[in-house]
Amino acid sequence: MNAMRWIFAAQGLIIVSSITTAAVIGAQPKPAAQTIPFPDGYRSWQHVKSIVVGPEHSSFASRGGFHHYYANAKAVEGYRTGRFANGSVIVDEGVLTEAGSGPMKGLVIEGDRRTLDVMIKDDGLFRDTGGWGFEHFEGSEAKGQTELDVSRRTRCYECHAKSKDRDHVFSVIRVAKFAAVAPASTGAGMGMNAAPQPAGQAQHTMIAPDALQWKSTAPGISMAVLSGSPESDGGHFVIRLKLAAGTRVPPHWHPGDEHLTVITGTFHMGVGEKFDEAAATAMTAGAYGFMPKEVRHFGWVTGDTIVQLHGVGPFKTFFVGQQSTK
Ligand code: HEC
Repeated sequence: MNAMRWIFAAQGLIIVSSITTAAVIGAQPKPAAQTIPFPDGYRSWQHVKSIVVGPEHSSFASRGGFHHYYANAKAVEGYRTGRFANGSVIVDEGVLTEAGSGPMKGLVIEGDRRTLDVMIKDDGLFRDTGGWGFEHFEGSEAKGQTELDVSRRTRCYECHAKSKDRDHVFSVIRVAKFAAVAPASTGAGMGMNAAPQPAGQAQHTMIAPDALQWKSTAPGISMAVLSGSPESDGGHFVIRLKLAAGTRVPPHWHPGDEHLTVITGTFHMGVGEKFDEAAATAMTAGAYGFMPKEVRHFGWVTGDTIVQLHGVGPFKTFFVGQQSTK
């Protein structure tokens, strides 16, 4: 009893002393330093889109002029999938307009840069603002670091949160808007657009087979997202899973219905809580299976196999006898 009281007293002491310290230095507890560096070289990144803020817009005084958006490679991937990985950077560059003269008379040309708004993804550092750090650089000097105070960052975030289902990003890469123009690296020559639309964009899309972007998700298994985002709530998604010959998927279930189509190879699928080859059915290329939500099932493949899954997100997998996994 005595010991207990002593502990309480000691805790009280700590609280009192920290209040005193704060009072002495007269400062609020400061969030960890979150300095966002000037994104050198952004003009050679992927051009996302441009707009012009004209005199009739309410922000003309501070933002009038051209606005060019650029995305680094990680952010380009984020635009494609609808989820931006750490290290993604997007900039909104504001450039003053000038009236051309001489042979340029009648043209509106670019003057100096006036602003640079930066979003950088780091879900550790910027947990409170959707994983995004927001920064604003003023003027044409390349280095003019002007750290945003917390309230201004929060204002950036609160408005960008309107686009929460697309990870706080509003714009769409203009290449994806004009399907006839294929990005140089993939799908070119087939007249196909290699970039699936981010979730929520109802636009015609075609993806060449070799433009699928596979990512390893578990030993022997990789995944490509064709449409939507399997992590997002409530949206339709289409994904493909590539399973190396001999891969076994232990008994598991999903919180949503699963539609499965075999593209290549042979997928053996069985229902039940125990892995039992004898209880499974072989599904060859072209076969389709429907697995209602929460039904325990398992599978394995003969030969390298690709299956396509369709459902409504979020797509989660819970293995029987384990906690959750993705
Ligand atoms: C009032 C709402 C609002 C506020 C506040 C706001 N933004 Fe935006 N921002 C937008 C919209 C809307 C777009 C997209 C416009 C378009 O597609 O043409 C955008 C675009 C951007 C982009 C390009 C990526 C994207 O989401 O499309 C960046 C980078 C950006 N803003 C940074 C900032 C920063 C930094 C701040 C704070 C200094 C800020 N924004 C404050 C609404 C806002």
